[in-house]
Amino acid sequence: MEREKFSSRLGFILISAGCAIGLGNVWRFPYITGKYGGAAFVLIYLFFLIVMGLPIMVMEFAVGRASQKSIATSFNVLEKKGSKWHIYRYFGMAGNYLLMMFYTTIGGWMLAYFVKMVKGDFKGLDASGVEQAFGSLTTDLGTMLFWMLLVVVIGFVICSLGLQSGVERITKGMMVILLFLMIVLAVNSCLLPGASEGLEFYLKPDFKKLTEYGLSEVIFAAMGQAFFTLSLGIGALAIFGSYIGKERKLTGEAVNILVLDTFVALTAGLIIFPACSAFGVDPGEGPGLVFVTLPNVFNNMKGGRLWGSLFFLFMTFAALSTIIAVFQNIISFAQDLWNWSLKKAVLINGIAIAILSLPCIFGMTIWSDFSILGKSILDFEDFLVSNNMLPLGSLVYLLFCVTRYGWGWKNFLKEANTGEGVSFPEKIKVYLTFILPLIVLYIFVQGYVSLFKSL
Ligand code: PHE
Repeated sequence: MEREKFSSRLGFILISAGCAIGLGNVWRFPYITGKYGGAAFVLIYLFFLIVMGLPIMVMEFAVGRASQKSIATSFNVLEKKGSKWHIYRYFGMAGNYLLMMFYTTIGGWMLAYFVKMVKGDFKGLDASGVEQAFGSLTTDLGTMLFWMLLVVVIGFVICSLGLQSGVERITKGMMVILLFLMIVLAVNSCLLPGASEGLEFYLKPDFKKLTEYGLSEVIFAAMGQAFFTLSLGIGALAIFGSYIGKERKLTGEAVNILVLDTFVALTAGLIIFPACSAFGVDPGEGPGLVFVTLPNVFNNMKGGRLWGSLFFLFMTFAALSTIIAVFQNIISFAQDLWNWSLKKAVLINGIAIAILSLPCIFGMTIWSDFSILGKSILDFEDFLVSNNMLPLGSLVYLLFCVTRYGWGWKNFLKEANTGEGVSFPEKIKVYLTFILPLIVLYIFVQGYVSLFKSL
């Protein structure tokens, strides 16, 4: 059977951007930046995006496009006979599931906040009231279950419509409105009385702050965030490479996606940090940051209820576009491996993801005493994905493309440079082969050392 393709280039870029832009930009980026001290962290993060993220994104697209497969079988198609790269598929596939195990819950919070905004639940609350409202949501088992399940159902229903009419059509429209909305809200936040302190925290680097947590932990976190936000390492982007034709070289497409993704993350920071200082919220407060700052902004804004509803609606869309992309990937595993029908793959995976999402919610409610490495279940799942699977998985893609034991540099380059547009810079081969892998490994090991020291 001919593999279904995207209907247009814009569709491909916006969907890949839709996969990249998600909770990583609007939920994770602000709270991690807040935790690790603001602007100096942002600089390190930007550095990693360009020197690590960009080349690896091109590699994922190339592997997807050349193999025409998802991560479940792409290495089998491209590897040399007798080599074992395809074993990575199990880790890669597990990474997709693990990511969804907490992502659906946070996506559920976004949806819940949209409904609360529409109903006017935050009206008249002061900053501590807003904080309490978040606290009561995240300790309420039944409510969180409800929203999480709703998110899972919506995601799989859209995927069941098929690639062009489901995933592509819906994501495209959402992305455009999201970009517009974020700019309006950033301007509004920066004009709040008391905004300047937050802006300074966010934009003026203070390198002393980096030592507070230990430099290696901060760098480890920045690397994790860079891979997370770009969706690298577990074949989540590779799958979209398998849905495009050979008209364009891949580097230019990757640059487009990186720019869009970074724009949304940086704008999210411009919305949130000024609001922190304006309403006395601690930027280092953790995973609840977006949820405890923004309702304050809307409470103090003309037409705030409408803007707030729109904001959380589009945040839900951003989360959903990522969820849909990852579900699409997960569904295609079963299709590639066992030739399952779309219906069967959707149904079985839908049930599996719903069940797998339970521990994250239980970790905040009935299992709240439980912790691993000093982390809650949510934080631990996130840590496993962002700080382990994504960097190490990216390393696998990298080595697969640069060494002759894998797919090899020549094959990679030929695929990446097929079509029109910007070519992949050949000169950086030495850097990619000998330096980049060592940097990733070094940061990884140092990150663990400082983690165990701090326990
Ligand atoms: N990039 C997505 C986000 O920012 C998260 C993601 C990570 C998606 C890895 C797929 C793979 O929300």
